[in-house]
Amino acid sequence: MTDQYAVIGHPISHSKSPKIHQAFAKQTGQSLEYRAIDIYPDDVAGQIQQLHNALKLKGLNVTVPFKETLWSLIDDLSERADRAGAVNTIVISESGNLFGDNTDGVGLSRDLLSNHGLTIKDKRILLLGAGGASRGVIAPLLQEAPTDLFIANRTAEKATNLANDFQDLGAISGGGWSDIKGKFDIVINATAASLQGEVPPISAACLADEAACYDMMYGDRDTAFVTWAKAHNAAHALDGLGMLVEQAAEAFFLWRGIRPESQPVIAMLRQ
Ligand SMILES: NC(=O)c1ccc[n+]([C@@H]2O[C@H](COP(=O)([O-])OP(=O)(O)OC[C@H]3O[C@@H](n4cnc5c(N)ncnc54)[C@H](OP(=O)(O)O)[C@@H]3O)[C@@H](O)[C@H]2O)c1
Repeated sequence: MTDQYAVIGHPISHSKSPKIHQAFAKQTGQSLEYRAIDIYPDDVAGQIQQLHNALKLKGLNVTVPFKETLWSLIDDLSERADRAGAVNTIVISESGNLFGDNTDGVGLSRDLLSNHGLTIKDKRILLLGAGGASRGVIAPLLQEAPTDLFIANRTAEKATNLANDFQDLGAISGGGWSDIKGKFDIVINATAASLQGEVPPISAACLADEAACYDMMYGDRDTAFVTWAKAHNAAHALDGLGMLVEQAAEAFFLWRGIRPESQPVIAMLRQ
């Protein structure tokens, strides 16, 4: 039987993951099937068990709104998933044991560093938003030794608390929009504001010369934050499609032991 994989979420019909993983499989000559499955927010563990019994799944990707739920349900977690407080990739053993990992953070740093040729070391980073996506990328960003990382959020207390959780990894602090001081080299939008076509209420005065603006959100046309960045002459105005493909490439590597080329798949999705 062909190895089976799936992405679970609710809703899930919009997911690009099947297209991405099918492209990776073709590119690397791996034989597998990958589908999107809508599951319901109650009894997530029971539904995964049923899916595994029916399909003998080898692995799962997890998206909104189950990343944190799975983190609390799975005992065997990678260090980066444990730190992120969220699981986006699950490896399932022959006996049905679940291993939870999180590839979002490495997906973002690979997109910034490898695909866009940016440098994080000795740069000032402004991270907008203090939700699950922010939590998942903080450790990989601090690993690259920025000068400092400031988290700004609509609910200031959440940003402060999040920063406190990562004090041991580097210079990090948090607050509200009005606490943003000075200029930043990389501004990452990890708020859900783009979903509503909105931009967080920050001043363009926070953009350093040659600043890069990165929206974790992506779409067929420029997101609100990418439009804002272009309007304020940011040197780079980037969306999160590359992060999506890079986190998938890392998941594919965990499952299949082979690292696919992400660039052709990003190009295919851009078309
Ligand atoms: N490219 C990728 O691979 C990738 C991966 C993961 C996530 N993402 C994207 O990242 C974004 C955040 O996801 P998440 O999982 O972190 O969501 P989340 O946990 O729900 O957090 C949402 C964050 O956005 C803030 N927010 C919501 N609406 C806002 C608005 N109108 N103005 C300003 N701030 C607002 C929230 O502030 P409060 O705390 O004040 O509520 C919170 O900090 C989404 O757009 C998601 O699609 C992309």
